Amino acid sequence: MVAAPTFHVVPGSTVKTVIDRNRDQVFDAVEAAYRLHAAGDSVNPDSYFLRYPDKPSARIIALPAHLGGTVQKSGIKWISSFPENTAANLARASAVLILNDAATGYPVACIEASLISATRTAASAALAAEHMSPNALEGTLSVIGTGIIARTTIEWLMFRNWKFSKVSLYDLNQNEARRFGNWLKEQYDLQVDIKERIEDAITDASLILFTTTTLKPYIDDMELFKHAPTVLHLSLRDIGVNVILASQNIVDDVDHCMKANTSLHLTEIETGNRNFVSGTLVDVLENRVALDYERPRIFSPFGLGVLDLAVGNFVFETSKSSNDVISLPHFFSNSVRW
Ligand SMILES: NC(=O)c1ccc[n+]([C@@H]2O[C@H](COP(=O)([O-])OP(=O)(O)OC[C@H]3O[C@@H](n4cnc5c(N)ncnc54)[C@H](O)[C@@H]3O)[C@@H](O)[C@H]2O)c1
Repeated sequence: MVAAPTFHVVPGSTVKTVIDRNRDQVFDAVEAAYRLHAAGDSVNPDSYFLRYPDKPSARIIALPAHLGGTVQKSGIKWISSFPENTAANLARASAVLILNDAATGYPVACIEASLISATRTAASAALAAEHMSPNALEGTLSVIGTGIIARTTIEWLMFRNWKFSKVSLYDLNQNEARRFGNWLKEQYDLQVDIKERIEDAITDASLILFTTTTLKPYIDDMELFKHAPTVLHLSLRDIGVNVILASQNIVDDVDHCMKANTSLHLTEIETGNRNFVSGTLVDVLENRVALDYERPRIFSPFGLGVLDLAVGNFVFETSKSSNDVISLPHFFSNSVRW
């Protein structure tokens, strides 16, 4: 008889410790997951959106995925976004990741996943920034939307050794920008400029990070991007169709990005084609796409469940080997058929 596996719970404090102590391995796990996905050694179905008719800003998304290679796990991230939480100083996003054993299908772990999600998003943005910028690791940075994903992305850019001569911040809520600016000064001793107009934040930045919670594009002035910056469009819905069409577009997965009213999805609806996408980040890593430094280069990652699996599995295996997980050996008490 095969015994049912032990079920494990990994709390957020353990997730944080493992990630903080193993940033190189986490970065490598994200890149490896992208490459496995590009090679077809993954299953990454569409994300599933739960939305509320009476609360359009809120949503909960399910991201199922399977990753092959050395990971060999399946799983699902279940992540809520309630932007109004922030008024009470509660994080917008909260999440769990369930990992399933590939051989039996049994769930083997439930992991706090808001940090896993932020980490995989930020590490993948840092990977893209490095490979899509004409002068990697230096320049001026602009952050539009100064929340948790922006903070995590800067942590990863700094971990990868970026040196910014200047950082401009813009947020609809100036208090958020000020708090973020204080954090940047304390943490990294960076020169920070808080802008009152988004135009002033964008026009002299070589690297621009969009991490807002906007639902509809509002950047439609091509002049803002005429200096051909590298743009990390993590919030996916900030940039207007005309600017997308005038830029070089790199994605994580073409099919995934053409959904859920992202700027790319709106561009596909308007033009009836996908010719405005040059390729994926793996195409860039493997030199299958030549970058165009005369135009803005926009990275729009839909956010793949395989990345959550890769980081979640690393955190799980590492914390299990140091006995830092909560083990529930009798969780599946009814697993014997007869
Ligand atoms: N692509 C991915 O893989 C991925 C993964 C995780 C999160 N995200 C996205 O990143 C975004 C940011 O997430 P977060 O956790 O940092 O949110 P957050 O709520 O912590 O911060 C968002 C900030 O943006 C500001 N803001 C909202 N609209 C704005 C606008 N039009 N202009 C300027 N500022 C604006 C808000 O005031 C807030 O300070 C979300 O849209 C989220 O969906 C993307």
